[in-house]
Amino acid sequence: MTYSITLIAGDGIGPEVTSAAREVLDASGVDLEWQDAPAGLGALESGGDPLPEATVAAVRAADATLKGPTTTPSGKGFRSINVALRQKLTLYANFRPARSLPGIETRFNDVDLIVIRENTEGLYSGLEHTVVEGVVESLRIITAKASERIARFAFQTAQRQNRKRVTCVHKANILKLSDGLFLDSCRKVAQEFPDVEFEDCIVDAAAMKLVSNPHQFDVLVMENLFGDILSDLTSGLVGGLGVTPSANVGDGMAVFEAVHGSAPDIAGQGIANPTALILSGVLMLRYLGEKEAADRVETAIRSVLATGDVLTGDLGGKATTREYTDAVLAQIA
Ligand code: NAI
Ligand code: MG
Repeated sequence: MTYSITLIAGDGIGPEVTSAAREVLDASGVDLEWQDAPAGLGALESGGDPLPEATVAAVRAADATLKGPTTTPSGKGFRSINVALRQKLTLYANFRPARSLPGIETRFNDVDLIVIRENTEGLYSGLEHTVVEGVVESLRIITAKASERIARFAFQTAQRQNRKRVTCVHKANILKLSDGLFLDSCRKVAQEFPDVEFEDCIVDAAAMKLVSNPHQFDVLVMENLFGDILSDLTSGLVGGLGVTPSANVGDGMAVFEAVHGSAPDIAGQGIANPTALILSGVLMLRYLGEKEAADRVETAIRSVLATGDVLTGDLGGKATTREYTDAVLAQIA
């Protein structure tokens, strides 16, 4: 089986970490046919469009897409490529596992949970207007359709991964209508999955519980803004930006990327940590059904981190991207 993969190298450290990830994924034994597609500041400067239609079409057509970070300049009327891609392709589910890694010192050493964030509505619908001078209104859109869709995605994820529980995170005590609808939608979908436990938790309490005892959680599902915030919190629980993978999933389409940005401060120096993007590639292999290859790559990463003598600067080491990638490749061979 050959899979067609669209590769968006992106900006800053993007080309460095995507090429490392590509090499490692190729070594996993799965047959991947890569197609490069431009997006980001580089695409804007060379072709006048930060997200060319041909790139959107390539993402749609591919079995999966691996994406490096893209730079979003502030101001200038330049929309985030990520938000644009998610909306154009209805990549409605943002999937972010947080699993402790060996050799990375954090407050807890055995975290293993997944944050699932609704990607298409909530406060990110972009519906804002000035009512009168000095008063701005932002609309927070919650629909039964999108809420049930993300809830079903969460329960299916729990079922596929043999996880016990789904927790709906919300603020329905205050946002009675909007989050009331989100919570009701989760409750309704829960009935289709009697073998998975269901509970709900108010978002502020969830934040407190996540930092004091994250082990009580398994799969968490929430609307857009809460998911944006809490998924960064859970990244922090397991070592931060350099090691956190993610996926944006729609119907028959998925884009896998690290959660970090283009890191302009270290771009071009060959010292970026490719771990987060390689682990995003591991999620991609699992999505494609290539479980063994995924396990092989993940085990290789964990063993290099556990040994701890070939680490990039962000993890306290001195290794270059090349040296770290070679260490991972040596573990796969
Ligand atoms: P950033 O994640 O690029 O960098 C924050 C800090 O973490 C920097 O000191 C950077 O050197 C370090 N860092 C990040 N990834 C690293 C890695 N793999 N290895 C070693 N060190 C790493 O966040 P920042 O500076 O806020 O954003 C820079 C640009 O990236 C902005 O234009 C932003 O819009 C964009 N961005 C893009 C994202 C995406 O495409 N998914 C996500 C987040 C930001
Ligand atoms: Mg965020």
